[in-house]
Amino acid sequence: MSSATPPGTRIARDETRVSRFFAETPIPELYRWFAEETRATSPLWEAVSFWIAREPTLERLLDALPGEARQPNRFLAALRFYDAPLQPGETLRDWVVEHWAQLRATIISRPTQTNEPGRLAVLGPILASLPQPLALLELGASAGLCLLPDRLPLRPVDATGTPPADGRRLSVAARLGVDRNPLDITRDDTRRWLRALVWPGEEDRERRLAHALEVAAQDPPEVVRGDLLEHPEALVGSLVEDLRTRAPEATCVVMHSVTLGYLPRAARAEVIAAIAGTGARWLAFEDARVLPEVAALAGVAPEWGKFVAALDGAPLAWSQAHGRRVRWLSP
Ligand SMILES: C[S@@+](CC[C@H](N)C(=O)[O-])C[C@H]1O[C@@H](n2cnc3c(N)ncnc32)[C@H](O)[C@@H]1O
Repeated sequence: MSSATPPGTRIARDETRVSRFFAETPIPELYRWFAEETRATSPLWEAVSFWIAREPTLERLLDALPGEARQPNRFLAALRFYDAPLQPGETLRDWVVEHWAQLRATIISRPTQTNEPGRLAVLGPILASLPQPLALLELGASAGLCLLPDRLPLRPVDATGTPPADGRRLSVAARLGVDRNPLDITRDDTRRWLRALVWPGEEDRERRLAHALEVAAQDPPEVVRGDLLEHPEALVGSLVEDLRTRAPEATCVVMHSVTLGYLPRAARAEVIAAIAGTGARWLAFEDARVLPEVAALAGVAPEWGKFVAALDGAPLAWSQAHGRRVRWLSP
C-alpha cells in the first residue's frame, strides 16, 4: 500500500453529523425520533421506543452509554439478541436492569452494520447491464451479502419503469469486500446479531436475510479489514489491483450501499475520488442526501424512497432503503 497520502487525509471519526446526533441528543428525544422512524413497518419498535422515551430508569442507563452507542437501534437489537420480554412495561424494565451489564457490553462492542440483501434487487439489474463477467469490490461490506448478486438474484416486491437488464443474468469472476469491522457469518453469534438488527414485524426482511445467510455460509464472501477514513486512495487502489490480478478479463466494479453516510462529508468526496482514480466502474446505492449531486440529476424522489442508485454518477433508480420498492429511471 502506498504511503504517499498527504498529511491531513485521515479524518477524525467523531466529525460525523450522525455520530454527533446519537451522542448528543437527549434520550427521550432520540427514542421519540426512533418511534417515528419505525412506525410504518414495526409497530412493536414504535411502541417500545415511545415507552422508553418516558421511562426514567432506562433513560439513566441509556444516557450513560458512550457516543454512538446511544443509537436506539443498538439497544433494541441487543434486546432481541438476548430474547428480552419485548412488551413495554415493568417486566421489560426490570429485565433490562437485571441484564444491564451484558446488554451494555453487547451494545458497545457491536455496531449496527445492518447487511441488507434486499438491495440486490436494485444492484443486480444494474450489474447485469455491464459486460460480464464482473469483479466486485464492495466498500463497507459488513458480512458481504451484497457481494452475492449471482447467488441471490432478487426482485423488488414493487417496481415501476424498466430495469437496465435482467438481474439473473450475471456472472461474478471475483469478489471482495472491505469493512472497518468485517462480520464473519460462519459464527452463530454474528448471524444472530444480524437477524436481531431487523426490526420486528419486517418479516420479508427476516426471510430474505435467513436465506441469504444460508446461501452465503456455503462459500462465505471474503471481507477484509480496512478503514475508509485511513488513506482511502491507497486502500481502494490496492484492493482494485488485487481484484484485477484475480480476474484480469472481468469488468471491475467498486460498489457501496448505505456506507458513505457513515463518513464525514470530506471523506465521502475522498472515497469517490479514490474510486474514480482506479478507472473501475462505480455503483452507488446511498441516501440522496449523501450523494446530492447525483440525486439532483434524478428528479423528485418518491415519498416512499429517498435512496438513489447510480452507475458512474448517473442515477438509474429511486429505491426504498431495503430495495423493497424501486422506480427505474429512463437512462
Ligand atoms: C449499514 S452497513 C451496509 C452494509 C452493506 N453495504 C449493505 O448494504 O447491506 C454499513 C457498513 O459500513 C461500514 N463502515 C462504516 N464506516 C466505515 C469505514 N470508515 N471504513 C470501512 N467500513 C465502514 C460499517 O462497518 C458497516 O458494516
